[in-house]
Amino acid sequence: MARAPKNTPSRPVASKRSEGGWREEVERVLITEGQIARRIRVLAREIERDFRGRELVVVSLLNGTVMFLADLIRHLNLPLRLDFMGISSYGLGTESGELVFTKELRLDVRGRDVLLVDDILDTGKTMSRVLPKIQALKPRRIKICVMLDKPSRRAEDIEADYVGFKIPDFFVVGYGLDFAERYRNLPFVGVLHPHVYKQVCQGVCQT
Ligand code: IMP
Ligand code: MG
Repeated sequence: MARAPKNTPSRPVASKRSEGGWREEVERVLITEGQIARRIRVLAREIERDFRGRELVVVSLLNGTVMFLADLIRHLNLPLRLDFMGISSYGLGTESGELVFTKELRLDVRGRDVLLVDDILDTGKTMSRVLPKIQALKPRRIKICVMLDKPSRRAEDIEADYVGFKIPDFFVVGYGLDFAERYRNLPFVGVLHPHVYKQVCQGVCQT
């Protein structure tokens, strides 16, 4: 009788994955899994120090924060409640276009300390739409935490209080970040090869 396979790390699966798909589409790894994990621990300590003694409401923007958020909050040793806001940009290729709210906050943030989490601060247009919406709900204070910051692209007067990594003006994917809803599952942040968006976005496409 055939034995059940042992539950050992499976090299063929790992190598199949690295040979498949993204190898030709991701030009290079910009930030590794290990670098992300180490940086998140440091960020979590900073946030804990600043919010000690307070109950936090973490407001996370869908969908790009999924991995960063999960890793960040598991390292936050603070009482917290979690909610999401949905905001999407529809535009040409890698440029953001019109912003549309797709999910509103459910938790009451009045008088609370809010940590607003996003994947990347780029032009700042998303944050400058979201911030007044939350401010109108009269929280005690709002701090902004982003995994990535592209300061050279900023069009709005807005900065984050906590930044994972400052990066140059590359279009990046992975660790939650997408292009046309793909690549979010890559465990690292990589630079997308321009041939991908030139090829995909000959017509109108969503970013
Ligand atoms: P902003 O409104 O220009 O600051 O851009 C914020 C949003 O644009 C982010 O939440 C991302 O969804 C998206 N974005 C900006 N730059 C990139 C990138 O390099 N890769 C993937 N998405 C990006
Ligand atoms: Mg996005």
